[in-house]
Amino acid sequence: MLVKLKIFRFDPEKDKEPYYQTYEVEADPRDRLLDCLNRIRSEQDPTLSYRWSCGHGICGSDGMRINGICGLPCQKLVKDFKDEVLLEPFPVFRVIKDLIVDLESFFEKYHSIKPYLITKSAPPGQERLQSPEDQHLFEDAIRCIFCACCTAACPINQNPETAAYVGPAALVRAFRYLFDSRDEGTEERTALLDHKDGAWGCQTLWKCTEVCPKEIPVTKQIARIKKRIYEVKQPKQ
Ligand code: SF4
Ligand code: FES
Repeated sequence: MLVKLKIFRFDPEKDKEPYYQTYEVEADPRDRLLDCLNRIRSEQDPTLSYRWSCGHGICGSDGMRINGICGLPCQKLVKDFKDEVLLEPFPVFRVIKDLIVDLESFFEKYHSIKPYLITKSAPPGQERLQSPEDQHLFEDAIRCIFCACCTAACPINQNPETAAYVGPAALVRAFRYLFDSRDEGTEERTALLDHKDGAWGCQTLWKCTEVCPKEIPVTKQIARIKKRIYEVKQPKQ
């Protein structure tokens, strides 16, 4: 089948304004959009720039807007699209070139929530053990591949007035540690999230959950974090 891709182009070193370029490629219906991009780059236009690595929904590096919806082209089959497919860089982030955006602020926010196990008690003789039931509590969050689709799709992050919001991806990571039975940094971590640009920045708009390629219940996890913050602040009996 013939696939038509309309792609956002912008090279700040030579273009005054962004523009769109349309390419046509022959593809098998089971090819992914990423296969088409790779074919364009190798056969038609080596200047086309985008990130990718694994090609299989694992590295999280090829996030972009596909017909206006944030997603991974390595997970989209061409047969599921009709007519022309519009590929654009993520909103929220500065465009470096074509479909590549600067994710520095995304990872700064991710690091701000202390994305590691905090322990205060003396280390046990062997490892810190955990039951399968306890592990199950945060299993969904471990699937996150830091693709940034959720944060880019979030209307709160898209609004310049509320863009300081830490964003859904960082909150999914916070959830992963807040509900890990081995973590001893609950008060420290909830304090980091207890403000308008932290967990309370979420207005439950569900966009993050809709786009997450790993089907993580992002919005529900953020709601659980808010409840946890509230619980931690209750006076001890
Ligand atoms: Fe990507 Fe989902 Fe992780 Fe957000 S929560 S960064 S959409 S995998
Ligand atoms: Fe790795 Fe798409 S290329 S997730």
